[in-house]
Amino acid sequence: MVFDEELLRTRLFRSESFKRGKCPYCGHHYWTLNQGQENCGDQPCTPYGFIGNPPGTYRPSSVADVREKFLSFFERRGHARVNRYPVVARWRDDVYLVGASIYDFQPWVTEGIVPPPANPLTISQPSIRLTDVDKVGRSGRHLTGFEMMAHHAFNFPDKKVYWVDETVEYAHEFLTKELGIREDEVTYKENIWEGGGNAGESFEVLVRGLEVATLVFMHYRIADGEYRDMPMKIVDTGYGLERIYWVLTGKPTVYEAVFSPFLSWARSRFGVERPDDALMQSIATLMGQLDPEVLALDKAYEAVARKIGIDAGELVKTVKPQEALYVLADHSRTVSWMINDGVIPSNSGVGYLARLLIRRMMRYARFLGIEEPLAEVFDAHLKLLAATDYPELREGAPLILELVDMEDKKYKATLKAAPQLVEKYIRSGKIAVEDLVDLYDSHGIPPEVAAEAAASRGVQVTVPDDFYERITKMHQRPAKEEGKRSPVPPEEVVGLPPTREEFYEDVYKSKSRARVIKVIEGRWVVLDSTIFYPEGGGQPADRGVIRHGGGEAAVVDVQRAGPVIVHEVSGAAPREGEEVELEIDWERRLDLMRMHTGTHVLIQSIRRVLGRHVWQAGAQKDVPTSRIDVTHYRLPTQEELRRIEEEANGAVMRDLPVRPLVLPRTEAERRFGFIIYQGGVVPGKVLRILQIGEDPPFDVQACGGTHLTRTGLIGPIKIVKVEKIQEGVVRFTFTTGRHAVKYVQELEGAMDEAARRLGVGRDSLLQAVDKLVAELRGREAVLRRLASKAVQADLEEARRREINLNGVRAAVVALEGREYAQELARAYTSSVGDVLVEVIGDEVYVYTNGKVRAGDAAKALLGELGGRGGGGATYAQGRVEGLRGDAARVETALKHALGGVKQ
Ligand code: ALA
Repeated sequence: MVFDEELLRTRLFRSESFKRGKCPYCGHHYWTLNQGQENCGDQPCTPYGFIGNPPGTYRPSSVADVREKFLSFFERRGHARVNRYPVVARWRDDVYLVGASIYDFQPWVTEGIVPPPANPLTISQPSIRLTDVDKVGRSGRHLTGFEMMAHHAFNFPDKKVYWVDETVEYAHEFLTKELGIREDEVTYKENIWEGGGNAGESFEVLVRGLEVATLVFMHYRIADGEYRDMPMKIVDTGYGLERIYWVLTGKPTVYEAVFSPFLSWARSRFGVERPDDALMQSIATLMGQLDPEVLALDKAYEAVARKIGIDAGELVKTVKPQEALYVLADHSRTVSWMINDGVIPSNSGVGYLARLLIRRMMRYARFLGIEEPLAEVFDAHLKLLAATDYPELREGAPLILELVDMEDKKYKATLKAAPQLVEKYIRSGKIAVEDLVDLYDSHGIPPEVAAEAAASRGVQVTVPDDFYERITKMHQRPAKEEGKRSPVPPEEVVGLPPTREEFYEDVYKSKSRARVIKVIEGRWVVLDSTIFYPEGGGQPADRGVIRHGGGEAAVVDVQRAGPVIVHEVSGAAPREGEEVELEIDWERRLDLMRMHTGTHVLIQSIRRVLGRHVWQAGAQKDVPTSRIDVTHYRLPTQEELRRIEEEANGAVMRDLPVRPLVLPRTEAERRFGFIIYQGGVVPGKVLRILQIGEDPPFDVQACGGTHLTRTGLIGPIKIVKVEKIQEGVVRFTFTTGRHAVKYVQELEGAMDEAARRLGVGRDSLLQAVDKLVAELRGREAVLRRLASKAVQADLEEARRREINLNGVRAAVVALEGREYAQELARAYTSSVGDVLVEVIGDEVYVYTNGKVRAGDAAKALLGELGGRGGGGATYAQGRVEGLRGDAARVETALKHALGGVKQ
C-alpha cells in the first residue's frame, strides 16, 4: 500500500499551528501544538506523565461516567447510540472474538452488503485481545478485555457522512473540551492500522505518554495478504474506556483504577499487602516504559530497581503479588464475558482461549498461595461486575462458576500428571521451547509447572516471557475452508438465468413442469425452475425423476452452481429446450422436512433445558435418524433428556405455525438478536429466517432449508442417543415422524423378545430381570466358595506331587478350565513352592515366584515337549499339540527341563 501522508494533513492541523515532528527513537511522524515536544509521545519513547498527577479537569467517579460522557457527546453531534454486541463474533466465520468495535460491522457492512444499523453511530464495545496477554499485569496498561468506545461513519461512494477532518476535530474537542485536557498535551502519531480484514492510515492519540485512542481511516480490504482499495471509506475509531478513566484518575496502573473494588476484596481476602503508593507510582511509571517487548523481563526489573535505587529482589517481591492480583482481576472479567456469550472452556477453538486464561489465573493464584477454589475469585468479581457495568452477568453467574469449578478439577488432575509427562520431554538434559508448547497444547501443562517439575530433576528450563502470546497466535481461527466446489465447470453456467426456486414457493409441491435450459456433459441438467431442493444447510438434496420426450432420467444429486441449480441425472438425459415433467421422491422429502423442522424444535428445547450457553456446533439431516451437535460441558442426565423430549413434543402438540421470513440482515439481527446465527453464518444481504410460533416466537434462526408449515406435522420427536464427541460438544442423534414410531416399535419389539426368552409377559420383564440377576449373584457366591475349595484340594495335590530339583520346588497340575487357575497359581507360588505348571487341554501355563524366570522355564519345558511359547519373569504360556491334559507327561519333561534352568 501507499502510505498517504496527505490524507493525514487534516484541517485542524492546518488551521491551528500544529507542528509535524519525527520521533528520533521510533521514526514515526507526529502532530502536536507543543512546539517544544521532541518525540512521538508514545511508549516506550516517552515516560508516563500522569501517574499521581492526572491531566484534564474532568474527574469521573467510575468508568460508567466516562462511557456516558463519550456516548452522549457523540449523540449530541448526530451519532445514533448503538447497543453493545456480544464478545463472541457469531456473525463472522473468520475470527472467534470481537477485538475492536469495527469487528461488529465486518464484513457485511464494511463490504457494502448491508447498510449499517445507523450512520454515523456511537458505541462502547466490550472487546477481547489476547495478543498482549503476557503483558497483562506487568506493563500497567494492557488488558485482555476492555471496552472500545467508538464513533463510526460509513462513507458510500454516493453518500458521504464525514472523513478525516471531522474525525480529528471530534476527537480533539472531546479530549480538550469535555475532558478538559490541555490542547498541547494531545499528540497525534501517524501510523497504519489493520484488523479484521481491513486497513487504513491512522492517528494514535496520545496523552502524557499513553495511547488513549486510535483514529483509523479505513479504505482498504486485505485479501490474500494484499491491500485492495474498497469502495467505502470508513471512519473507524477506538477510544480505550479503561485507559481514559485511568489517565483521569492518575492511579499507578489501569488495574488499580478500574478494578479497585475487586483488588480491595482480594487483598483483604488473601492477605496481600498493598504497596506504598509512592513506590508503586515510580515502579509503574518505569515498568510501563520498559516494555517486555523491548527487554527481557528480568532485565526490565533490574533496570527499574536500579533507577529507583532499590534491590532487584525487593522490587520483584513488591510487584509480583500485585501482578498476580491484576491478572486475576483482568482475566476473570474476560472469561466471564466469554462464558456468558456461550464459550465453553475446552482444548480447541474459542474454548481453548478461555481455558488458557483460566489456567493462567490458576498459576497466579498458586503463586499467591491461594488454596481456595478459583470460583471464589470469580464469585466475588461477578457480584461487583453485575452490580455495576454488566448486569447481564447476574444470570450467567451460576454457569460461569460451575464451569470454572470443573476447570479447577481438571487442572488439579493435570498437575498430578505433570511430573511424569515432563520427564518424557527431557532430552539430552534439556527441555526446548517447542516441548513447552507441546506440553501445554497437548497436555494442558503450563510452562511454569513444567519448569518446576524439570527443576526437581535438575533440569533448568527457561520460559519465554511471551509464551502465551506465542500459543494464542497459533490458535487463531483457521482460515475458512473453501466453499463447496461447483460440480460443473463454472464457465458452463456463467450468464445463465437464475433458476426459479419453486421449492421455496410451495414446499408441498411434489410434481411440476419446467423447461430445460442446458445439459452439461450429458448428465448435469439446468432447468428454468425447479422443485428439487439442492443440498445445503445440512439438508440433503432431493431425489426423483425428470420425465421427457426421450424417456425418464433419475435425479441422483442436486447442487447450486453459480446462479443456477444443477440436477445430476442417470439414464437418458432430456434435450435442451424441451419441456419436462419433474417429480421428487416425496416420501423422502417429507421425512427430511420433518427432520429439519424437528431439528429447530429440538435445539430450542435443548437450550431451554440445558441453558443459554447451548449453541449448535454442527448438524446433519438424514433418515432414519438425524443429528445435532451442541456446545455443552457434560452428558445430559436421563432426567434432562426426558425434559428435552417433553419440551420438544410439547411444541409439536401445540401445533405452532412455522413461517419463513425474508428479511434484510440488519433488520433480522435487530429484531431477533444474534441467535439467528445458531446454525452458523449465512451469507447475503437478505436472510431467510425461520420463525416457529409467535407472540413470542418459540424459535427463530436463519435457515435456507425447506420446512413444514406447522410443528404438528413433525410427528413425534425421539432422542435415540447422546454422546460426547469432543470436549464441550455433545451429539444428539434423534428421529421424527414415522421413523420415530418405528424406532419405538423396535424398542418395544426387543423388550417383548427379551420377555419371551425369559418366559414372562411384557409387564413382568423388570421383575424377571431382577430375579435373574439375584439368582446369578447367588450362584457367583456359590461358585466362589466351590473355587476356593477346589484351590485347596489342588494345592494339596500339588504338595503331594512336589518335584524338588536343585532346590527349586515345582509341581504340575491338570485343570479342567481357567476359572480359578490364577488364584491357584498365586496361592501356590506365594506359600507352597516356586514353580507351578498348569495343564489345561493342550495349553501349558507356567507361574513362578521369580526364583526362576517363568519365560526360561517355559522355554526349556516346551522344548522337551515339542511345543511353542514364552513369557516374562513370573508368567509364561505355551501350547503343545495333542497334549490333552497329560500332566504326567509334563511332569517328566519338567524334571528334565528344570535340571538345566538357571536360578
Ligand atoms: N479499530 C481501531 C483499533 O482497534 C480503532 O484501534
